[in-house]
Amino acid sequence: MSETKKSDVTVPAQASAPVSEREVLLKVEGLQKHFPIRKGLLQRQVAAVKAVDGIDFEVRKGETLGVVGESGCGKSTMGRVITRLQDPTGGTIHFEGKDITRLNTAGMRPLRRDIQMIFQDPYGSLNPRHTIGSIVSAPFRLQGVEPEGGVKKEVQRLLELVGLSPEHYNRYPHEFSGGQRQRIGIARALALKPKLVVADEPVSALDVSIQAQVVNLMDDLQQELGLTYVIIAHDLSVVRHVSDRIAVMYLGKIVELADRASLYESPMHPYTKALMSAVPVPDPKRRGAKSERILLRGDVPSPIAPPSGCRFHTRCWKATEICKTTEPPLLQLRPGQQVACHHPENFEDQAPQDTVLLTAAKAAAELVADEVLAESAETSAAVKAAVAETAEAAETAEAEEPAGAEAEEATDEPEATDKKG
Ligand SMILES: Nc1ncnc2c1ncn2[C@@H]1O[C@H](COP(=O)(O)OP(=O)(O)OP(=O)(O)O)[C@@H](O)[C@H]1O
Ligand code: SF4
Ligand SMILES: [Mg+2]
Repeated sequence: MSETKKSDVTVPAQASAPVSEREVLLKVEGLQKHFPIRKGLLQRQVAAVKAVDGIDFEVRKGETLGVVGESGCGKSTMGRVITRLQDPTGGTIHFEGKDITRLNTAGMRPLRRDIQMIFQDPYGSLNPRHTIGSIVSAPFRLQGVEPEGGVKKEVQRLLELVGLSPEHYNRYPHEFSGGQRQRIGIARALALKPKLVVADEPVSALDVSIQAQVVNLMDDLQQELGLTYVIIAHDLSVVRHVSDRIAVMYLGKIVELADRASLYESPMHPYTKALMSAVPVPDPKRRGAKSERILLRGDVPSPIAPPSGCRFHTRCWKATEICKTTEPPLLQLRPGQQVACHHPENFEDQAPQDTVLLTAAKAAAELVADEVLAESAETSAAVKAAVAETAEAAETAEAEEPAGAEAEEATDEPEATDKKG
C-alpha cells in the first residue's frame, strides 16, 4: 500500500514517532453497552443483549487500530459508543484526556468536529433526496462553520481530495457507484478536519476490486491529514495492511490485542488463529508452506446469555474445565501483545495444572491440512466432472438408443462413486 502514499506531503510530527511513543488520543476502560429486553404491560426488563461487555483499549495519535470479529460480536456497537452516538451502559471513554463518557448532546457538540464516523452501508447512509453538495456540506451547517473561501469551494476541494470531480456537486447519490458513494461518505466525514475517524466496515459492501481503492484512499488521507483511525472489519484481510495494531473481538469482549506483526506472525488466542486460518496467505514465500485450516464448528452463542468462564469455550478445541469456570483476564504476555486465554498458542500455558479437555472441545473445531482441503476440492471437481460426463453420456445414449439407456446409466454410476472414495 505504501506505493500509493504521496511523498511530497507534510507528515505531522506525531505520525513520524513510533506508535508506542505517541500521545493517547482515545482511552476506553471497562466499556459496556447492554441493550435491555423488555416484556409485558409494564415493560419490565427481563434480560439484556450484552453487545459490548467490558473492553479496554487505547488509540494513539496517527495510528490505525483495526477491530475484527464475527458478525454480531459488538463491533458496530463499540464504534457507535466510542463516538458517543450511543450512550454506554458502563465504563469510561476519555478523548484527549477529557472524560466524555456522560457528556450530553450540547457537551458533545464541539467534539463532533473531532470525532467522525464512516458508516458500513454506502447505499443507506446517503440521503437519496439530497445533492452531493448538500450531503458533504451538512457538517458545516450543523456546526455553524463557514470555511475559508465559502462552503461550495470547500466541498469541491473535499470531492477532489477523495478522487471525485468538483462537478459532482449538484448530482444525486443514485448516480454513483458503491465505491464512489463511499468516497462521498469519506468526504463528509473529513469536512470538519476530525482528529479521530471511526470507520465501520467501510468497504464490506463494495466489490473486492473497489475495496483496495477505498482502503488505499483512506491510507493516503491518513498520511496527508494526520488522521487517527479505528477501522472495523469482519475479517483480517481488510485491516491487514493498514492497521498498526489489531483488536480481535468475540461476543462483546476483546480476546487479543496486538501489534500487526505479532498478531500475524504468532497469534496467541485460539480464536485469532481460527480467524487467521480463514485468510489466504499472500506472501509467496509462505504460500507453499504446510499449513492447517481451522474450521470452527457451531454458531456464535447468544450475547443475551454468553457462556460462563471464557466465552469461546463452547467452540474452542483447547477448552478445559478452568475455561468453563474462570474468565481469563486480558494480559500482556509479550511486549505489544495482550491475550485473554488460559492455554494460549505460541506461549507457555497459563493453567498448566488443567490438562483434561472438555468433551465438547474435542468436537469444537476441525483441523484440516491445506493439502487435504485442496485434495478434497480436486476430488469434488473430479466427481462433478465425472457426474457431468455420465449425465451427458446418458443423454446421448437416451437420444440414440432409448431402450438401453437405463442399463448404461446403471453401469456408469459406480464409476463416479469410486472417484469420491
Ligand atoms: N439497538 C439495539 N437493540 C438491541 N440489540 C442490539 C442493538 N444494536 C445491536 N444489538 C445487538 O448487539 C449485538 C452486537 O451487534 P453489532 O451490530 O454491534 O455487531 P457487529 O459485530 O457490528 O456485527 P456485524 O458484523 O453483523 O455488523 C447483536 O447481537 C445485535 O443484535
Ligand atoms: S483455551 Fe480456554 S481460555 Fe483459551 S480460548 Fe480456549 S476456551 Fe478460552
Ligand atoms: Mg457491524
